[in-house]
Amino acid sequence: MSDLTPTASRESHAAARRVALVTGSARRLGREIALDLARHGFDIAVHYRGEPEEAHDTVAELQALGGAAHAFHADLSDEAACRALLPQVVAHFGRVDAVVNNAAMFEYDAPASFSHAAMDLHWKANTAPAILLAQALHDHHAEHRAAHDPTACVVNLIDQKLWNPNPDYFSYTLSKAALEAATVMLAQALAPRVRVCGVAPGVTLLSGPMTADEFEKAHTLTPLRRSSTPNDIARTVRFLIESPAITGTTLLVDGGQHLQGQPRDVMFLAQQTLPVEPT
Ligand SMILES: NC(=O)c1ccc[n+]([C@@H]2O[C@H](COP(=O)([O-])OP(=O)(O)OC[C@H]3O[C@@H](n4cnc5c(N)ncnc54)[C@H](OP(=O)(O)O)[C@@H]3O)[C@@H](O)[C@H]2O)c1
Repeated sequence: MSDLTPTASRESHAAARRVALVTGSARRLGREIALDLARHGFDIAVHYRGEPEEAHDTVAELQALGGAAHAFHADLSDEAACRALLPQVVAHFGRVDAVVNNAAMFEYDAPASFSHAAMDLHWKANTAPAILLAQALHDHHAEHRAAHDPTACVVNLIDQKLWNPNPDYFSYTLSKAALEAATVMLAQALAPRVRVCGVAPGVTLLSGPMTADEFEKAHTLTPLRRSSTPNDIARTVRFLIESPAITGTTLLVDGGQHLQGQPRDVMFLAQQTLPVEPT
């Protein structure tokens, strides 16, 4: 863990500033979300799983913006580690206002190659931790915070492909479908203390087997001829956290990608020939 914030200033921050826990925020989309929230007055709990260097770099970058930040390690597939995470953030910052469930696994399978192992891998990374962290935020607010704090919010990162389904990345897609359903049910269960929302990105960052050229091409394969950028996603996450009348809703931020049927995942659409079973 890194802690570059003096105790006195941490206490004054805790009194004045809201705190967001962003899972998987050492790099990529989570990092952009963390930086955007920090620019708009949030102190940030940077959750990471891998090597600490990237998380510490992100913490330093966040602190340079003038707020507090701290890195927290957890493998969210480990239930005990996941349950311990939010109490650790509360112990450090004194409060948590928002949880952004951004961390995710994205590994290829298809109905023909489906296995319990593939489903377990994606469910334990993409679905179950988001539910536990939402419940933990609710418990924190029930025990320690005002009854109707309109800022208490969970934002789940989902995927536009739920509205535009195809069998590629089958277990990943199922785990995100469960997360979208959980977003609605948790919004019902955790009201009025905690709001639960979703953001469904289109193709935003180079992922999986895509080449840079394929990514550039895929980014334009939408009705608006542009998919989402990290900034589009980050500002939508912030909008939801700052919108006290919204709960149980997922916003699609994808250049309209979900409006057009696609026979294969966008990962493969820009390729000249579509593999039957990509590796
Ligand atoms: N990128 C896109 O174009 C796109 C499109 C649609 C939806 N999304 C969604 O947006 C979110 C962010 O996307 P991304 O591409 O930035 O994500 P990513 O890089 O694939 O993953 C984000 C982080 O999740 C962490 N993670 C995975 N499994 C974990 C576990 N069991 N415990 C703790 N951390 C774990 C990884 O940590 P390690 O680095 O340690 O492995 C990784 O740094 C995801 O939920 C994704 O499904 C992204």
